Order: sequence, then C-alpha cells, then structure tokens
Amino acid sequence: MDGDKKSTFERNSHGIPKLQREMHIDFLQFTLGHYPSHFAGIDASRPWILYWALNGLLLLGQDVGEYRLRVIQTLTPFQNATGGFGGGHGQTSHCAASYAAVLSLAIINETDAHDMIDRKAMWQWLGSIKQPDGSFTMAVGGEKDVRGAYCSMVLITVLNLPLSLPPDSPARAAGLETFTDGLGTWLSRCQTFEGGIGGAPGNEAHGAYAFCALACLCTFSEPYNSISHYLDVPALVSWLSARQMQPEGGFAGRTNKLVDGCYSHWVGGCWPLIEAALAGPSGLPTDLWSREGLVRYLLSCCQNKRGGMRDKPSARPDGYHSCYCLAGLSTAQNHSVYVDPTVSDQATSLGPAFNWMASHATEAEMDAWGYDATDRVDFVHPVFVLPWGVAERTRAYFAQKAGF
Ligand code: FPP
Ligand code: ZN
Repeated sequence: MDGDKKSTFERNSHGIPKLQREMHIDFLQFTLGHYPSHFAGIDASRPWILYWALNGLLLLGQDVGEYRLRVIQTLTPFQNATGGFGGGHGQTSHCAASYAAVLSLAIINETDAHDMIDRKAMWQWLGSIKQPDGSFTMAVGGEKDVRGAYCSMVLITVLNLPLSLPPDSPARAAGLETFTDGLGTWLSRCQTFEGGIGGAPGNEAHGAYAFCALACLCTFSEPYNSISHYLDVPALVSWLSARQMQPEGGFAGRTNKLVDGCYSHWVGGCWPLIEAALAGPSGLPTDLWSREGLVRYLLSCCQNKRGGMRDKPSARPDGYHSCYCLAGLSTAQNHSVYVDPTVSDQATSLGPAFNWMASHATEAEMDAWGYDATDRVDFVHPVFVLPWGVAERTRAYFAQKAGF
C-alpha cells in the first residue's frame, strides 16, 4: 500500500505481493542520477549513495558494469592523502564514508577501482583512530562508536591490511600492538542492561549497533568463540526477539519504537550471526525468529507503488531503505551458516569472515516463509553486507600483491 491508496501489485502463490524487481532496479538506477540543490544536506553521504544502489542492484541480480567509470571518478577526489575517504570533496576522512567507498569499489571489481585505494595511507589513518581502550573513533578526534569498530575491521579485512598497528598509532603508545587488541572487551562494555547493544558504553541499545558489534566480532574470530565470549548471549537473544513486532512482522530498532524496513537488515542481520554463535562448531541450524513475518512485512508494506523500498507505508522510498530492505529480505529468504575451516585456512589472519556458506531455502521452507522463486533476492554476506563473493575476490586481489 502507498498511503491510503491500495496496492495493485500482483500476488504470489501465497497471496503476498510479488517482489517488484524491475521497478526497484529502475528506482535504484534513478538514485545514481542527478540530485536537485535541496539535496545538498546529503553531500557527506555520497559514498553511501553509491554503495546502497550498487549493493541493491546486485542483490536484485542486475549487472552494474555500466557504472564503473562514474564510481571511480566520483570517489577519486574523496580520498585524502593522509588516508581514508571523506563523504565528499574536501571532507575529513570518516570511517563510515571509507567503508561505503571501499565496498562500492569492491563491487565494481576492476583493477583501476582497486588500485585507486591508497592502502598504506588507509592503514596509517586507521592506526590514528584506534584508541588505547580498544575502540575506534569515527574520525580523527571524532566520537568512539561501535560503527567505527565494525567499519574499520571490514576495511582491514577486505583490503588485506596488516593487523599490526602502524608504529605511530597512539594506541601503540598505550601498549596495544594490533587492531584487535582490547576490541572485544570494549564491545562487551556496549551491551546494556536490556541485553541489546548501544553505540558506546552507557548508550541506549539499538539494532544498528547490535549488528555492527556482532559483525565486528565475526571478523576476527569464529562467532561461537567471540560472540559467546564477549557478550551475554541469552540476554541479547531475548532483546533481539523483542524487536520483531506483532502484528507487522518487521523489526523495530529499539524498545518502544516503531517497525521500520531498514531494521530488516540491522536486526534481521543479527540472526545468522547469533545463530552461528549458538550452533557452535557443529554448525547445526536453529531458527529463532519469524522469517515469514519479515518476508510478509517487506513484500506487503515496504514496496513503494512506483518502485523503491521504504520504512513503512506512508514513507517515501530511498536508497538506504531499498538497500537494507533487500539485504533483510535476502537474510529472511536464504540460509547462511558458519562452517569451520580446514586447518590450512585457519592460519589466515582475519580469515573467519570468509568461512560462511550460503544456500537457498527448500521448497517447503519457501512455502512456510511465503515467497516464490521469482521473489528471491541474491545472497548477502552476513558480515560484509555485500553480494556473495565480492569480499573474497577483493581480498584475494590485494593478497597477491607484495607489500602494499
Ligand atoms: C536512530 O534513529 C538510529 C540510530 C541511533 C543509529 C543509526 C545507525 C545506523 C543506521 C548504523 C550505521 C552503520 C554503519 C555501518 C555506519 P531514529 O531515532 O530515527 O530511529 P528509531 O526511532 O527507529 O530508533
Ligand atoms: Zn529506517
């Protein structure tokens, strides 16, 4: 439905609106076009606009080759000589902008896109935001935040940067040696009395930070080791369970707040990670949440009549909600399971995030969860939030280089 107007979407075999693939593709392509002047306020989010659209398009099975040159040209001036990317021309390097820029360049999958990243400068810049207490700030002199921890660890992993801190990192002066030193302990301080996770110690629990903390823990250790070691898992499961709302079936981000489509990823994306922590080395699957509820909410309430996905009926669609609604839909529709690596793989530093396996649901599961094969979106990686294989391919490209 769109406002008061009834949706005319054709229904799938379960009576639920079909995924409007072509309209969402058109919408995401539109978000890569020109913006009128009143959008100046999102100038610092330009790398994000690229990432949301490219990620969403690939999840919908669309090729993004036509955008290669424009993505490289757009992002080139955002990189600072001192390392990292700002959100726009002449802006200070920022963890979130750097994450979105690097992920966009990884999706583009072209030598020029990979080689334009100054990895040595990025390593040094990340060293300058690593803090003596194990956390990361979002920018030099910026706020300590769980997003900084997650984005930094994804950058180090995907770019295959050294895990050791640069010699001039202030954290090294305080006795830390690697980017992961003190990190798990700092993240554990972000778990609140409610069982959820806040952006920093003492802050209110919120789904977006829960995902960042869990995914960050999955970059440097097996989920059943790091998550179980650093977090109170039963309390977190209880808090996460309370985020799936009745009767909508979608997720809210925090206590006493409303359902919003973007939490389909921020909260929905916590489930594969937490289930892998609970499964342990056996990898035995558990299902702790209602995939059917989420599929129903996304297909019935989050598809805008003219394409694009949204927070809820009455809200306008945008690139951010389209990307994270689709990522959540992928999580609800497919399986991703942590599989113990072989002994030789285990020697790889920051290898755990590459040990996930994705598979399609069975026919019986699709029936139970309310979707048909034509409603299915591609696999999203549970840690990197990238289309399947993109992080592996990018890291392999950098791993074959000698030095930086
Ligand atoms: C509250 O917004 C939202 C937050 C406190 C956190 C937002 C953080 C993210 C979306 C995560 C970003 C992640 C990365 C990787 C950079 P609100 O008050 O408008 O929403 P609410 O009412 O649903 O809580
Ligand atoms: Zn939202």
